[in-house]
Amino acid sequence: MPHLLYIESSPRKQRSASIEVARTFIDAWQAQHAIATVDTLDVWNTPLPEFDGAALDAKYAGIQGIERTPEQAQAWAQITELAQRFVSADIILFAVPMWNFGIPYKLKHLIDVVSQKDLLFTFDERGLNGLLDGRKVVVIAARGAPLDRAEHQIAYLTTWAEMVGIDEQYNIVIEKTLLGPEVDAESRSAASKAAVALAATL
Ligand SMILES: Cc1cc2nc3c(=O)[nH]c(=O)nc-3n(C[C@H](O)[C@H](O)[C@H](O)COP(=O)(O)O)c2cc1C
Repeated sequence: MPHLLYIESSPRKQRSASIEVARTFIDAWQAQHAIATVDTLDVWNTPLPEFDGAALDAKYAGIQGIERTPEQAQAWAQITELAQRFVSADIILFAVPMWNFGIPYKLKHLIDVVSQKDLLFTFDERGLNGLLDGRKVVVIAARGAPLDRAEHQIAYLTTWAEMVGIDEQYNIVIEKTLLGPEVDAESRSAASKAAVALAATL
């Protein structure tokens, strides 16, 4: 049964361009797959563990091959549970606003928590080996203005996807959402059409 992990990272909810287009994508994708399932992970409503103390020590214990203390093991169990939601997915859909040329800090927090050795990748002297190969990533990226500086939104998620072993990625951009209601509506409409067309292929 195809399974999609939908990662929502805009706090604008009803007004959000990335969420609007992501929902269009999900509806179209579900219409193609009679028995598909969707797991929604809203980074603004999901408790994300702080990555210090026992969680940080649990990471380094794993890298050094040292047994984790009970406190570290408990912290690691919470991280493993979140990472498992990525492992279970066939498609990982990111709906992501551009914030200061990159991604919102809550999404970065999620990525920093789940991107762990032996959960999403392994590494040895030959380098990184992603464990999510065979999955697909879809990025629906909203931006207020036309891009005139370095892009750290899609580029960052592409680097992350490659690290975890995913090389099949599709991007849909909704640009100029801050340039007035008409421009915003046009941009959303074009991106929604692209989302429906993409969903038909996945
Ligand atoms: C904190 C913050 C930072 C932003 N930084 C940028 C930026 O660097 N470049 C840009 O084009 N738009 C920027 N914007 C505008 C958003 O990208 C735009 O409103 C977009 O539509 C947000 O996606 P959403 O509608 O899905 O929330 C920023 C908005 C916020 C709230």
